[in-house]
Amino acid sequence: MTVTPLPRAETPDVFAPATLGPVTLRNRTIKAATFEGLSRDGQVTDKLVDFHVQVARGGVGMTTLSFCAVAPEGCQAKGQIVWRPDALPGLRRLTDAVHAEGAAVSVQIGHAGAVGNPKATGLPALAPSRHFHKTTLSFAKAATRNDLRRIVREFGESARMAADAGFDAIEVHLGHNYLPSSFLSPRLNHRDDEYGGSLANRARLSLEIMRAVRDAVGDRVGILAKLNMDDGVPGGFWLDEAIPVSRWLEESGSLDALELTAGSSLLNPMYLFKGDAPLREFAGVMPEPLKIGVKLVGSRVLRTYPYQDGYLLQDAKQIRAAVDLPMILLGGITDRAIMDTAMSEGFQFVAMGRALLREPDLINRIQAEPRTRSLCDHNNKCMTTIYRGTRCVLVDSGHPSPFADAAATPAAPAATPAGEAASAVEVSA
Ligand SMILES: Cc1cc2nc3c(=O)[nH]c(=O)nc-3n(C[C@H](O)[C@H](O)[C@H](O)COP(=O)(O)O)c2cc1C
Ligand code: SF4
Repeated sequence: MTVTPLPRAETPDVFAPATLGPVTLRNRTIKAATFEGLSRDGQVTDKLVDFHVQVARGGVGMTTLSFCAVAPEGCQAKGQIVWRPDALPGLRRLTDAVHAEGAAVSVQIGHAGAVGNPKATGLPALAPSRHFHKTTLSFAKAATRNDLRRIVREFGESARMAADAGFDAIEVHLGHNYLPSSFLSPRLNHRDDEYGGSLANRARLSLEIMRAVRDAVGDRVGILAKLNMDDGVPGGFWLDEAIPVSRWLEESGSLDALELTAGSSLLNPMYLFKGDAPLREFAGVMPEPLKIGVKLVGSRVLRTYPYQDGYLLQDAKQIRAAVDLPMILLGGITDRAIMDTAMSEGFQFVAMGRALLREPDLINRIQAEPRTRSLCDHNNKCMTTIYRGTRCVLVDSGHPSPFADAAATPAAPAATPAGEAASAVEVSA
């Protein structure tokens, strides 16, 4: 029998309240953003509200509404929420519903950059330098200085709208080779202006964005950044550069907490998740030409990485040692033992993606019985469900997925494969 070690006396209790900037969370668990695929025509739907109500009811300290784009060309999917005044009433409905369950709610704001989907948006995608996107068969154009000025401003305006809509926190996406992260990457950023070259120049866009967000909302809400520790591709951004960037972010005073991630939705998506690469399922949801591509060379892009609980911990500890900012440990947080390890290693919060897709009530159950084990087996097949309402494909009769209903009702599909998971099928090595 496996015995879960009890937390040491000095270890902070993951179920004790904690502050995140101006917000107090009822405990230190956060639902990580998992693209829900439940907005329609840029608006919140009842199913999207239900998704977060279920997670909030399941005991989490804070849930996270996934990627809402700061600009139309920064979307990966048709129907995705873009920050516009007409989206605010629906977003307010969502924040009120989550608050009624006693949880806080954050929203991820971002710009997809080269992961943007011109077929869904009707606009060219943007990148630091021209980049051919093999999934959408189109070029992302190099962002001009004017584009960057506009986008920085839009991050600030989006943050202000998020605070107005009742969100407790804003999570700025600085990872996964989306726009700010692609600027950090020496592999994707070949510019010779003040946004390219040295690390200080490649980090300029991220720092400007975070400053615009802080200037827009002050301390009305908590401000988080989801930063890559490494892209998982040769010639990309790595931990040696993530450490100084984390320090600069801390020194900027623009953040209340830092969440660490890894991987590239553009070039190496499975590096984000670890676990099985669901090639057959991806091929099944792709339109015809891409289906063949996935079958032929998908295993070169969708690589299988061994999964283990807390798989980002070792790298995250190096950033933990370099900054004093409150930090959120993400990646394979599934049970009380790894939560306690995170707390004892100096992380203030833990974030959970797949484990809470599998069982939205897992937090309550772990609190009631510390030996509770997650039922998620890291098969990653949920990645292929984002077109019609993201859900766990393993619905156990004892713990049915509240999202199954959403999946059973076909929604308007994205014009082309889109989102974090869909970008996984970019068929390049
Ligand atoms: C179906 C699915 C969709 C996701 N969508 C997003 C997203 O929109 N934004 C994001 O930053 N990460 C996204 N992720 C990544 C998760 O936030 C998280 O980083 C990853 O799943 C690792 O955490 P876990 O081991 O707790 O699942 C997604 C993950 C899954 C499984
Ligand atoms: S489909 Fe379910 S069991 Fe599989 S990785 Fe996703 S949440 Fe976990």
